[in-house]
Amino acid sequence: MKTIKLGKTGVTIPILGQGTWGIKSFRSKSYYKKWKESIKKGIELGITHIDTAEMYGRGTSEQILGHVISEYDRDDLFITTKLFPMHLRYKTMKKAAYKSLKRLGIKEIDLYLIHWPSPFNSIKTQMRVLEDLVNEGKVRYIGVSNFSVKQFKEAQFYLKNTELVSNQLHVSVARQKHIGKSLSFYQKEGIIMTAYSPLGHNGFRNLKGELRNKLEMVAKTHNATIQQIAIAWLVNHENVITIPKAFKIKHMIANAEAANIRLSDKEIKLFYEDGRELERIKIVSA
Ligand SMILES: NC(=O)c1ccc[n+]([C@@H]2O[C@H](COP(=O)([O-])OP(=O)(O)OC[C@H]3O[C@@H](n4cnc5c(N)ncnc54)[C@H](OP(=O)(O)O)[C@@H]3O)[C@@H](O)[C@H]2O)c1
Repeated sequence: MKTIKLGKTGVTIPILGQGTWGIKSFRSKSYYKKWKESIKKGIELGITHIDTAEMYGRGTSEQILGHVISEYDRDDLFITTKLFPMHLRYKTMKKAAYKSLKRLGIKEIDLYLIHWPSPFNSIKTQMRVLEDLVNEGKVRYIGVSNFSVKQFKEAQFYLKNTELVSNQLHVSVARQKHIGKSLSFYQKEGIIMTAYSPLGHNGFRNLKGELRNKLEMVAKTHNATIQQIAIAWLVNHENVITIPKAFKIKHMIANAEAANIRLSDKEIKLFYEDGRELERIKIVSA
């Protein structure tokens, strides 16, 4: 699995991570067993970065993931989770972090993100929570999710001793707003853009029209599926990683393969919605 530098931390992480949104609460043992098997297959294939959040299945995702983590050497995995900023005060936000650590059964979260910008709590307080967690040794690296560049810069402004390493954003070949508007900023600053819902949340099952035709055309050249091309397209951009969710093992395998597909500049540009805006974007060099 190819890796990428995590900001200025000196650490590298795989260009492909595993998403875990969609895990349901109160399901049968066999449901969770199947899900765990898929995660483990991903780990075996080098997809050792796993993304979760306190709100996924109201803690169930973190809890089940905790079972999987306990079977591995902790240092071999990179775990991202997210603070849902509905906990309004400094203390309640910190408590939420401790609960995530407990559910995951780990001493330190590798990457802790503010899940969404919150109108209810000052960004200054949220950054203080994150920075204090780093100082306490509960969190290694911090970032945000669903922040605009303006919000990202404001958040960074309030940090004293640490830096945001990633912004997790809704980005796919079918949803390019952040590629056009903010990727050049993250590339310049050496910050990771983590693309979530890279397959449109439903595996591009109902994708139609010009985009599907283009994906099919490129997929044929690479003897791949349209989903693999959609994943490859993202990670063929500098500073972009992606975290598709795959409950099915066959999807996990296909996704791991997709990370190795090298698209030509022409193939990458074929999908751009606005050529002018995207001229500044750097793609991974051969
Ligand atoms: N920060 C945020 O606000 C935020 C928001 C949304 C998502 N996320 C994160 O991003 C992750 C991914 O996004 P997502 O779950 O919305 O959706 P997604 O990854 O875009 O799509 C998941 C769907 O694609 C299918 N799939 C996966 N690989 C495939 C393949 N190779 N071929 C065909 N179908 C394939 C999956 O099927 P099976 O499951 O049946 O295998 C599932 O139905 C989430 O799980 C979560 O960790 C973050």
